[in-house]
Amino acid sequence: MTRPITSIEDLRLLAKRRVPRMFYDYADSGSWTESTYRANEADFGKIRFRQRVAVDMRDRSLATTLLGQPVAMPLALAPTGLTGMQHADGEILAARAAAAAGVPFTLSTMSICSIEDVAENTDKPFWFQLYVMRDRDFVGNLIDRAKAAGCSALMLTLDLQILGQRHKDIRNGLSAPPRLTIPNLINLATKPRWCLGMLGTQRRTFRNIAGHAKGVTNLSSLSSWTAEQFDPALSWDDVKWIRDRWGGKLILKGILDPEDAELAARSGADALVVSNHGGRQLDGALSSIEALAPIVAAVGDRIEVMMDGGVRSGQDVLKAIAMGARGVLIGRAFLYGLGAMGEAGVKLSLDIIRKELDVSMALCGLRDIRQVTDAILASRGGM
Ligand SMILES: Cc1cc2nc3c(=O)[nH]c(=O)nc-3n(C[C@H](O)[C@H](O)[C@H](O)COP(=O)(O)O)c2cc1C
Repeated sequence: MTRPITSIEDLRLLAKRRVPRMFYDYADSGSWTESTYRANEADFGKIRFRQRVAVDMRDRSLATTLLGQPVAMPLALAPTGLTGMQHADGEILAARAAAAAGVPFTLSTMSICSIEDVAENTDKPFWFQLYVMRDRDFVGNLIDRAKAAGCSALMLTLDLQILGQRHKDIRNGLSAPPRLTIPNLINLATKPRWCLGMLGTQRRTFRNIAGHAKGVTNLSSLSSWTAEQFDPALSWDDVKWIRDRWGGKLILKGILDPEDAELAARSGADALVVSNHGGRQLDGALSSIEALAPIVAAVGDRIEVMMDGGVRSGQDVLKAIAMGARGVLIGRAFLYGLGAMGEAGVKLSLDIIRKELDVSMALCGLRDIRQVTDAILASRGGM
């Protein structure tokens, strides 16, 4: 009998077995020494709940809104590049699982399935994450394509003008599709499910970009393409331009400092995401949960504050809400589900988190997620 899957950690271990090494490593890594990557998870562990007893725990609700949109729980899937390399057609599968669970899915600019692929193969609106390239015609075109596809929010990522180094990606020669070198072929030979899935789809490279951006060369090499194309001069004036061109709900992702949060609130955006890119950019920066409370204190009355980084359980979600977040994004927690078991794995990851959140909230003595405040915390872990 196979062991039942009961946690996100179980899904991670299964994904590690089933996903080719270069793509598993791409997900399960941070920049340089990975100290911020580790702190994102570890700092959640320092926060302690207040256990309450003999309170009525019937009729509980996790439902709330994000950007005015109803959600079944205060959570959305984070944009992750190359999701369609964790599993064939990964973005479409994850979007479907998110829709079934009643939470938003965010499609990355650096996705394998294009905006149009996801729109044609799902029936709920999704969010689109934008990276700003030097080629502003291409950026404008991406915004227009997201509008045409009915995306319900634009998430502009501000913390990746230049790329933090992840050692494993260099060692593994990360590319999409993988180059057929001898070490890669040996590794792929041990991943038959993944290979079969990839043989059954045409979606094997960056389809938002291939065929859309002018003069794009060497797209298969993510890091060199990023270095060539991403705009290191991105500024708050660009945020204004993007806001005007988009005209809909705007989320600014990658804010870690109260001064930047102040500028974000003044920019007219609807929400910001406290994030260090999952520990993948500035190693040595604060963990996201540590950065959260000062930002909520500075701007929480003027702009919706979400957070991401290190959320691996429903308990982490509850802690983030108690520390003042309106909602959280999950990256690796759903990617591990996807790599492990495709759409069913993403569903399972969301189900695991939802149950953990529900039971933890009840054991803290509350029945409605909208009533959660830091009153449920015994210790904020020094944050
Ligand atoms: C494999 C991977 C790829 C990512 N790609 C993107 C991306 O294309 N755009 C973006 O804004 N953030 C990207 N991120 C960052 C996530 O959106 C999110 O901030 C981070 O994963 C949150 O941390 P967690 O994975 O611990 O939940 C990526 C993260 C991972 C793990």
